[in-house]
Amino acid sequence: MTYQGFELDAETALALLDWQLEMGVDVPMLDAPVDRFDLPARVVPELPPAQVRAATPALPGLDDDLSARLAQAEALAAGAASLEALAAAQESFDGIELKKGARNFCFADGNPKARVLVLGEAPGDEEDRQGRPFVGRAGQLLDRMFAAIGLARDAVDAERALYIVNVLTWRPPGNRDPSPDEIAVSLPFLRRHIELAAPEVIVLMGNIPCQAALEKRGILRLRGHWVQAFGRPALPMAHPAYLLRNPAAKREAWGDLLSLAARLESLSV
Ligand code: URA
Repeated sequence: MTYQGFELDAETALALLDWQLEMGVDVPMLDAPVDRFDLPARVVPELPPAQVRAATPALPGLDDDLSARLAQAEALAAGAASLEALAAAQESFDGIELKKGARNFCFADGNPKARVLVLGEAPGDEEDRQGRPFVGRAGQLLDRMFAAIGLARDAVDAERALYIVNVLTWRPPGNRDPSPDEIAVSLPFLRRHIELAAPEVIVLMGNIPCQAALEKRGILRLRGHWVQAFGRPALPMAHPAYLLRNPAAKREAWGDLLSLAARLESLSV
């Protein structure tokens, strides 16, 4: 079988389909409708015998390379005893290609002692320029949203503060979604980051944090339902960039913010 000029065996084709499912593809669609009653007769290719398939190496080198990068990320993260040490360790880590194309390392913003940690996706253009998460248009909306329940990233009092972190610390080019490998090598740092900051609750802002923390996508189904993530109560919410494009969804986001405020209240008593 060939795909866009490349030879593709059945196992690789299935692996590609699995990967698409993991990325959230649930409905295969073409640009134009297909009349399936009027398709030419299909030739079903014969699969090679099982022993030949088993002997076919799957993308040689890739898995070893990823395991080595993961092991290095785990070791660096585990060795960091403070947030400052973790930031230095993560910035020094070269096992993520995005580092080469980004302008600035984007570790966190706000008050690390805050009760609430907001987990976003990845730096965009403005965040990449400033080296701080959520400082573009979506970030400005995020600030207004949390201000409505009395929380702010610049609050000194931990009760009223926010701590803001992204799954990725380097900007993906063109704001594309991070790849599963990029998320995987960022996770050891993120886990340690959350351990060291020790927030009481986490807000999972959008699909990528849900993918990283829960291995689930589908934020519009997940939002508003409390879950456990990184060993703490977590609330998935629609990303402010989505709310900018779909203002009607702000009503539900307001409901989610009220749910967060109520949870904080109940944890304080
Ligand atoms: N979107 C995010 O998820 N994080 C940012 O820092 C900016 C935009």
